[in-house]
Amino acid sequence: MLCLGIESSCDETAVALVRNGRLLGQQLASQVDVHALFGGVVPEIASREHLRVLPGLYRTLLTETGVQPEEISCVAVSRGPGLLGALLIGLSFAKGLALALGVPLVGVNHLHAHLLAAGLEEDVPFPALGLLVSGGHTHTYAVRSDHNFQLLGRTLDDAAGEAFDKAAKRLNLPYPGGQLLDELGQEGQPDHEMFPRAYIDNDNLDFSFSGLKTAVVNHVNAHPHLALPSLAGTDALAPEIRQELAVVCASFNWSVTETLRIKTERALPRVPNARALIVAGGVAANSMLRRTMLALAEKHGLRAVMPSPSLCTDNAAMVACAGERLARCGRFHSLELEAVPRGRKVPQDWLSAPV
Ligand code: KG4
Ligand code: ZN
Repeated sequence: MLCLGIESSCDETAVALVRNGRLLGQQLASQVDVHALFGGVVPEIASREHLRVLPGLYRTLLTETGVQPEEISCVAVSRGPGLLGALLIGLSFAKGLALALGVPLVGVNHLHAHLLAAGLEEDVPFPALGLLVSGGHTHTYAVRSDHNFQLLGRTLDDAAGEAFDKAAKRLNLPYPGGQLLDELGQEGQPDHEMFPRAYIDNDNLDFSFSGLKTAVVNHVNAHPHLALPSLAGTDALAPEIRQELAVVCASFNWSVTETLRIKTERALPRVPNARALIVAGGVAANSMLRRTMLALAEKHGLRAVMPSPSLCTDNAAMVACAGERLARCGRFHSLELEAVPRGRKVPQDWLSAPV
């Protein structure tokens, strides 16, 4: 089976080809530089950019992999959750291709695709506890198979990645700030008293990061020299301020990581006989989180499954991978497949046979 994956749920436009669980090639166009001018994703600009670059990415993908369009056996597309206009561009392109090639269409849950991405690099054993940490979501799941996901916990307000981006924004770090905040944090030691480990004094599996974000804002308000004077970058920082900033970043990283560790460990009994701990989504590229989750998995005798950092952030390889797995067990969609905006549950409305 040769599955084409299409991703356009937020600010990355991507296409990829997966054949029998192996990645043949992928093309990705990031819009980060465009949105950085506004300090966050502007939905209408995102849609227009997807529309502009998607056909070219598809053509380049075919050229670079040497694949002929007739060889494609199904078209998988991220159908949500995401920005509605952005999703509609990917869906329209996918429907057009499926129609033109006469092959089935598979709508993929973007969040599930994140959790399945590591399947391109290793065999993932199920059942597994899945932690999805991205710019829009912080979810824990019981993952019983590659199409059986039960939501266990979720954020009540900001997602972990959103907290990183907002903290970074207050420090005037360029958007999206998660990766830079991670890198700066590696230059300092965390102060465990600086920021709270948010929303852990309860007995549930949910998350809340908005209080932590406010704590960072208050800290920077009290120490205004920590915020970069402009968006020019960190190179011009005086060494002592850079060191102070590194401690703030390390402490923030630690608070987020500890909150995620505590709630993930608390969720473990909800997946009896778990064999793996999957950590995925953009924030799973975070160095401290990866170390901590590796140790947590070892402590409980679980396989730690974390995609390579390039497969953590949005990409189409994960969409093709998830789509191929759905297609293999006969789960397809009709050309009426709908996009699902952020905040709405993605229905499991597969057809049993291709239409
Ligand atoms: O999964 P993703 O690419 O997009 C969504 O589906 O949301 O995640 C993007 C998020 C952003 O908030 C970004 O700042 C964060 O992942 N991120 C990181 C790191 N790399 C990306 N956060 C912390 N540490 C990182 N190294
Ligand atoms: Zn994502």
